[in-house]
Amino acid sequence: MTRKHNPDRRKFLKGVGIAGAGAAIADHLWTEADAEEKPGTPATLSGNVGIKLDVNGTARDVQVEPRTTLLNALRNHLEPAVTGPKLVCDVGTCGACTVMLDGKPAYSCLVLAVDAVNRKITTVEGLGSPESPNAVQAAFVEQDALMCGFCTPGFVTTISAYLKKNPNPSLDEVREACKGNFCRCGTYPRVFEAALAAAKSTAG
Ligand code: FES
Ligand code: FES
Repeated sequence: MTRKHNPDRRKFLKGVGIAGAGAAIADHLWTEADAEEKPGTPATLSGNVGIKLDVNGTARDVQVEPRTTLLNALRNHLEPAVTGPKLVCDVGTCGACTVMLDGKPAYSCLVLAVDAVNRKITTVEGLGSPESPNAVQAAFVEQDALMCGFCTPGFVTTISAYLKKNPNPSLDEVREACKGNFCRCGTYPRVFEAALAAAKSTAG
């Protein structure tokens, strides 16, 4: 799919990405042309770099450009792809791309893949399976907490991370925990009911 040029996104990536990417990018990324530049001339990052990502407990080798987001790497560069995290806004406003990074929810569209090296990445696929769902996944099914389902992986991941931190939340706390996730179908009441049901099912 062809994506329109978005100057704000480029600015963001330039601001947060290159500094963070520095630690993970090998010397060979500096092209020959860069190497021949005169001292004092800012060098340019280009080309692919091979990195290893820990996705759902499995080390996955992947080739990405330094500017590639984690979401893009998961969905479009890994083979086989990891498509649980969804691409919706791509600018950190909807939560559909939520993954856990070292157990904490993060928008994978705002994280560079190279910055996810040496971090534990958990997607909705890593939380459970159709045969053995985690409590939140099971509660979403039981409470019928989805309509189109596009936002669902993000909610399930956010709530799964939150219940580890607060296993017995109130409705208000669940609502607060989900404030970074948006559902265009408006299934919020059932999503919150599912979160409370999941907490109840794992209590004690
Ligand atoms: S796709 Fe990442 S926040 Fe919307
Ligand atoms: S169920 Fe459709 S966007 Fe949430």
